[in-house]
Amino acid sequence: MPKVLVTGGAGFIGSHVVDLLLAKGFDVTVVDDLSTGKRDNIARQARFHEIGVNSKEFAQLVRDERFDVIAHLAGQIDVRKSVADPVADATINILGTLNLMEAVKQSDAKTRIVFTSTGGVLYGDFNTPPNVETYPKDPESPYAIAKLSVEYYLAYYGRVHQQDAVAVRFGNVYGPRQDPHGEAGVVAIFCGRILDDRPLTVFGDGLQTRDYVYVGDVARAVWLAATKPLPEKGRLDARAFNIGTGEGTSVLEIARLLQGAARSNVPIEFAPRRPGEQQESFVDAGKASEVLGWVPEIALADGLAKTFAWFARETSGAAT
Ligand SMILES: NC(=O)c1ccc[n+]([C@@H]2O[C@H](COP(=O)([O-])OP(=O)(O)OC[C@H]3O[C@@H](n4cnc5c(N)ncnc54)[C@H](O)[C@@H]3O)[C@@H](O)[C@H]2O)c1
Repeated sequence: MPKVLVTGGAGFIGSHVVDLLLAKGFDVTVVDDLSTGKRDNIARQARFHEIGVNSKEFAQLVRDERFDVIAHLAGQIDVRKSVADPVADATINILGTLNLMEAVKQSDAKTRIVFTSTGGVLYGDFNTPPNVETYPKDPESPYAIAKLSVEYYLAYYGRVHQQDAVAVRFGNVYGPRQDPHGEAGVVAIFCGRILDDRPLTVFGDGLQTRDYVYVGDVARAVWLAATKPLPEKGRLDARAFNIGTGEGTSVLEIARLLQGAARSNVPIEFAPRRPGEQQESFVDAGKASEVLGWVPEIALADGLAKTFAWFARETSGAAT
């Protein structure tokens, strides 16, 4: 049974990765400090360590267990928090990942690291989407800079220390278990608002696009990246894969689709455009299709309907 460690396995995407890997027959260990994740999200068959990725205990665990795969999803995910406190963001997102990579190096195990990067904010407004992996990068936030920095470290550790790593660059992930509070994904926020019978707030003209990809599809991409043969190690981008649908969908369209799925007529209200917000962002996932055999399977309307149904059950207290 291959041994896998999922960091951030109590979180939104990480918990779906845990469920899928258990179903595929992996022996799964989870590390999470529960800063945003929930213990209830972790499947019972997984072992759980409540520790932070910057800790000595974490490095020791990685050295001792010599995992076959480490899916690294733990991180600070809030772009606004990274702007307010870039040091805190870099401490978790860069130094926490380096702690992991150094521990793998010291363990001398043949561990494959799957790093969850971003396709949504890595390329910035520099290019005309759909963005291809090799396009120039223009990270516009400390969060995106941290993700890009880690990708450079992965490429470097690959060349110099023969570390086996891959970066999956997600679009805008949505689905069950996403946190509807704070600055989370717009789908979760809109589901929460519809269920509270409150208006859906759209910033600017609502025509800004994002690549909305269903969490089950994303979990499958992590599994494929963990198990498939990869291209030669090399420079940045050599082992990076965009994970998205290739289509940009406007926020206004998301609001309308969710109103339809929920059979709700809560109003849509407009608020001033947020400074620095990217206008268009969607990715070309052709490389993931060719190399990993990954294509998204859940159509947007179906994914939104599933997601709203989950939030509705959760609100009524019936969800598990
Ligand atoms: N949600 C998206 O649309 C999206 C897009 C691109 C990339 N990603 C990346 O995917 C990963 C998972 O994101 P998510 O949306 O599931 O967010 P999430 O907040 O639900 O998951 C992150 C998990 O990491 C844990 N964590 C945070 N800091 C930690 C630390 N120092 N030590 C141990 N655990 C820690 C949290 O408790 C949480 O369970 C992140 O790396 C994120 O940057 C997400």
